[in-house]
Amino acid sequence: MNDYFKHESAYVDDGASVGRGTKIWHFSHVQSGASIGENCSLGQNVNISNNVIIGNGVKIQNNVSVYEGVEVEDHAFLGPSVVFTNDLTPRAEYPKGHDNYLKTMIKKGATIGANATIVCGNTIGEYAMVGAGAVVTKDVKPFTLVVGNPAYEYAKVDEKGNIIKKF
Ligand SMILES: CC(C)(COP(=O)(O)OP(=O)(O)OC[C@H]1O[C@@H](n2cnc3c(N)ncnc32)[C@H](O)[C@@H]1OP(=O)(O)O)[C@@H](O)C(=O)NCCC(=O)NCCS
Repeated sequence: MNDYFKHESAYVDDGASVGRGTKIWHFSHVQSGASIGENCSLGQNVNISNNVIIGNGVKIQNNVSVYEGVEVEDHAFLGPSVVFTNDLTPRAEYPKGHDNYLKTMIKKGATIGANATIVCGNTIGEYAMVGAGAVVTKDVKPFTLVVGNPAYEYAKVDEKGNIIKKF
Protein backbone atom coordinates (compact mmCIF):
# COMPACT_ATOMS: atom_id res chain seq x y z
CA MET A 1 0.00 0.00 0.00
CA ASN A 2 1.45 3.35 -1.09
CA ASP A 3 1.25 6.35 1.20
CA TYR A 4 1.03 8.63 -1.83
CA PHE A 5 -1.71 9.01 -4.45
CA LYS A 6 -1.23 7.93 -8.05
CA HIS A 7 -3.99 8.20 -10.63
CA GLU A 8 -4.64 4.90 -12.39
CA SER A 9 -3.31 6.34 -15.69
CA ALA A 10 0.08 7.29 -14.16
CA TYR A 11 3.23 5.11 -14.01
CA VAL A 12 5.82 4.95 -11.27
CA ASP A 13 8.66 2.68 -12.40
CA ASP A 14 10.39 0.16 -10.15
CA GLY A 15 13.27 1.77 -8.32
CA ALA A 16 11.62 5.20 -8.04
CA SER A 17 10.68 6.56 -4.62
CA VAL A 18 7.75 8.84 -3.87
CA GLY A 19 7.16 10.47 -0.49
CA ARG A 20 4.09 10.41 1.69
CA GLY A 21 1.23 12.69 0.70
CA THR A 22 2.46 13.30 -2.85
CA LYS A 23 -0.16 13.28 -5.62
CA ILE A 24 0.59 12.15 -9.18
CA TRP A 25 -2.15 12.98 -11.67
CA HIS A 26 -3.27 11.74 -15.07
CA PHE A 27 -0.78 10.35 -17.64
CA SER A 28 2.30 11.22 -15.60
CA HIS A 29 5.45 9.06 -15.48
CA VAL A 30 8.09 8.80 -12.78
CA GLN A 31 11.15 6.89 -14.05
CA SER A 32 13.50 4.53 -12.29
CA GLY A 33 15.89 6.00 -9.73
CA ALA A 34 13.89 9.22 -9.40
CA SER A 35 13.27 10.44 -5.87
CA ILE A 36 10.27 12.63 -5.10
CA GLY A 37 9.76 14.06 -1.63
CA GLU A 38 6.66 14.39 0.52
CA ASN A 39 3.53 16.43 -0.22
CA CYS A 40 4.40 17.21 -3.81
CA SER A 41 1.90 17.60 -6.62
CA LEU A 42 2.60 16.40 -10.16
CA GLY A 43 -0.10 17.59 -12.58
CA GLN A 44 -1.19 16.01 -15.82
CA ASN A 45 1.41 14.72 -18.30
CA VAL A 46 4.44 15.29 -16.07
CA ASN A 47 7.60 13.26 -16.66
CA ILE A 48 10.28 12.83 -14.01
CA SER A 49 13.31 11.25 -15.67
CA ASN A 50 15.73 8.69 -14.31
CA ASN A 51 17.59 9.67 -11.14
CA VAL A 52 16.03 13.13 -10.84
CA ILE A 53 15.72 14.43 -7.27
CA ILE A 54 12.65 16.46 -6.30
CA GLY A 55 12.37 17.85 -2.75
CA ASN A 56 9.36 18.20 -0.47
CA GLY A 57 6.30 20.33 -1.16
CA VAL A 58 7.17 20.89 -4.82
CA LYS A 59 4.33 21.80 -7.21
CA ILE A 60 4.72 20.78 -10.85
CA GLN A 61 1.98 21.94 -13.20
CA ASN A 62 0.79 20.19 -16.37
CA ASN A 63 3.12 19.20 -19.23
CA VAL A 64 6.52 19.50 -17.56
CA SER A 65 9.39 17.08 -18.23
CA VAL A 66 12.11 17.21 -15.59
CA TYR A 67 15.11 15.67 -17.36
CA GLU A 68 18.11 13.93 -15.86
CA GLY A 69 20.59 16.57 -14.72
CA VAL A 70 17.92 18.78 -13.17
CA GLU A 71 17.41 18.95 -9.38
CA VAL A 72 14.47 20.67 -7.74
CA GLU A 73 14.62 21.70 -4.07
CA ASP A 74 11.83 21.99 -1.51
CA HIS A 75 8.75 24.14 -2.23
CA ALA A 76 9.75 25.07 -5.75
CA PHE A 77 6.92 25.79 -8.20
CA LEU A 78 7.21 24.74 -11.86
CA GLY A 79 4.48 26.40 -13.94
CA PRO A 80 2.63 24.75 -16.81
CA SER A 81 4.74 23.68 -19.80
CA VAL A 82 8.06 24.77 -18.32
CA VAL A 83 10.89 23.37 -20.46
CA PHE A 84 14.18 22.00 -19.10
CA THR A 85 17.25 20.93 -21.07
CA ASN A 86 20.33 18.89 -20.19
CA ASP A 87 22.60 19.16 -23.24
CA LEU A 88 23.73 22.57 -24.50
CA THR A 89 24.73 21.40 -27.97
CA PRO A 90 22.87 18.14 -28.71
CA ARG A 91 23.36 16.04 -31.82
CA ALA A 92 21.21 13.01 -32.59
CA GLU A 93 24.24 11.23 -34.08
CA TYR A 94 26.65 11.97 -31.21
CA PRO A 95 24.85 11.57 -27.89
CA LYS A 96 27.01 12.72 -24.96
CA GLY A 97 25.55 10.31 -22.42
CA HIS A 98 24.11 11.08 -19.03
CA ASP A 99 27.52 11.56 -17.37
CA ASN A 100 27.93 14.71 -19.44
CA TYR A 101 24.59 16.35 -18.82
CA LEU A 102 24.92 19.89 -17.50
CA LYS A 103 23.45 20.34 -14.04
CA THR A 104 20.47 22.63 -13.55
CA MET A 105 19.45 23.53 -9.98
CA ILE A 106 16.10 24.92 -8.94
CA LYS A 107 16.72 26.11 -5.40
CA LYS A 108 14.34 26.17 -2.48
CA GLY A 109 11.11 28.12 -2.95
CA ALA A 110 11.89 29.26 -6.51
CA THR A 111 9.09 29.76 -9.06
CA ILE A 112 9.33 29.16 -12.80
CA GLY A 113 6.51 30.82 -14.79
CA ALA A 114 4.44 29.18 -17.48
CA ASN A 115 6.21 28.13 -20.66
CA ALA A 116 9.64 29.38 -19.53
CA THR A 117 12.72 27.57 -20.85
CA ILE A 118 15.70 26.92 -18.60
CA VAL A 119 18.88 26.42 -20.59
CA CYS A 120 20.95 23.75 -18.81
CA GLY A 121 23.91 24.47 -16.54
CA ASN A 122 22.16 27.28 -14.67
CA THR A 123 20.96 27.72 -11.10
CA ILE A 124 17.72 29.44 -10.21
CA GLY A 125 18.37 30.87 -6.73
CA GLU A 126 16.31 30.53 -3.58
CA TYR A 127 12.90 32.20 -3.89
CA ALA A 128 13.84 33.59 -7.29
CA MET A 129 11.07 33.97 -9.87
CA VAL A 130 11.10 33.49 -13.63
CA GLY A 131 8.39 35.29 -15.64
CA ALA A 132 6.11 33.47 -18.03
CA GLY A 133 7.79 32.67 -21.34
CA ALA A 134 11.30 33.70 -20.26
CA VAL A 135 14.40 31.98 -21.64
CA VAL A 136 16.93 31.65 -18.82
CA THR A 137 20.53 31.57 -20.08
CA LYS A 138 22.38 32.55 -16.86
CA ASP A 139 22.12 31.91 -13.14
CA VAL A 140 19.27 33.78 -11.47
CA LYS A 141 20.12 35.38 -8.12
CA PRO A 142 18.06 34.53 -5.04
CA PHE A 143 14.92 36.68 -4.51
CA THR A 144 15.22 38.08 -8.04
CA LEU A 145 12.53 38.17 -10.75
CA VAL A 146 13.74 37.78 -14.33
CA VAL A 147 11.70 38.12 -17.53
CA GLY A 148 12.27 38.06 -21.27
CA ASN A 149 14.43 36.31 -23.86
CA PRO A 150 17.23 36.22 -22.89
CA ALA A 151 15.99 36.66 -19.33
CA TYR A 152 17.11 39.82 -17.55
CA GLU A 153 16.71 41.06 -13.98
CA TYR A 154 13.44 42.88 -13.59
CA ALA A 155 12.75 43.17 -9.86
CA LYS A 156 13.44 41.97 -6.34
CA VAL A 157 10.81 39.67 -4.86
CA ASP A 158 10.16 38.49 -1.34
CA GLU A 159 9.57 34.96 -0.05
CA LYS A 160 5.83 35.21 -0.71
CA GLY A 161 6.33 36.39 -4.30
CA ASN A 162 5.55 40.07 -3.79
CA ILE A 163 7.48 42.44 -6.04
CA ILE A 164 9.52 44.63 -3.68
CA LYS A 165 11.50 46.87 -6.00
CA LYS A 166 11.67 47.11 -9.79
CA PHE A 167 15.10 47.76 -11.29
C1 LIG B 1 6.70 38.61 -14.55
C2 LIG B 1 5.44 38.90 -13.73
C3 LIG B 1 5.60 38.31 -12.31
C4 LIG B 1 5.32 40.40 -13.70
O1 LIG B 1 4.25 40.79 -12.92
P1 LIG B 1 3.91 42.35 -12.77
O2 LIG B 1 5.08 43.14 -12.30
O3 LIG B 1 2.66 42.43 -11.99
O4 LIG B 1 3.75 42.75 -14.26
P2 LIG B 1 3.02 43.98 -14.90
O5 LIG B 1 1.75 43.44 -15.45
O6 LIG B 1 3.00 45.16 -13.97
O7 LIG B 1 4.00 44.28 -16.09
C5 LIG B 1 5.11 45.12 -15.92
C6 LIG B 1 5.84 45.17 -17.25
O8 LIG B 1 6.51 43.91 -17.46
C7 LIG B 1 6.02 43.29 -18.66
N1 LIG B 1 5.89 41.86 -18.37
C8 LIG B 1 5.04 41.28 -17.51
N2 LIG B 1 5.21 39.95 -17.53
C9 LIG B 1 6.17 39.69 -18.42
C10 LIG B 1 6.78 38.49 -18.87
N3 LIG B 1 6.42 37.30 -18.39
N4 LIG B 1 7.76 38.60 -19.80
C11 LIG B 1 8.14 39.81 -20.30
N5 LIG B 1 7.60 40.99 -19.89
C12 LIG B 1 6.62 40.91 -18.96
C13 LIG B 1 4.69 43.95 -18.95
O9 LIG B 1 4.39 43.90 -20.31
C14 LIG B 1 4.95 45.35 -18.47
O10 LIG B 1 5.71 46.04 -19.41
P3 LIG B 1 5.56 47.65 -19.63
O11 LIG B 1 5.98 48.26 -18.32
O12 LIG B 1 6.50 47.94 -20.75
O13 LIG B 1 4.12 47.87 -19.95
C15 LIG B 1 4.20 38.22 -14.36
O14 LIG B 1 3.76 38.92 -15.51
C16 LIG B 1 4.46 36.77 -14.77
O15 LIG B 1 4.97 36.45 -15.86
N6 LIG B 1 4.07 35.84 -13.82
C17 LIG B 1 4.14 34.41 -14.05
C18 LIG B 1 2.72 33.83 -14.13
C19 LIG B 1 2.77 32.36 -14.31
O16 LIG B 1 3.41 31.85 -15.22
N7 LIG B 1 2.10 31.61 -13.45
C20 LIG B 1 2.15 30.15 -13.56
C21 LIG B 1 1.10 29.52 -12.70
S1 LIG B 1 -0.52 29.76 -13.32
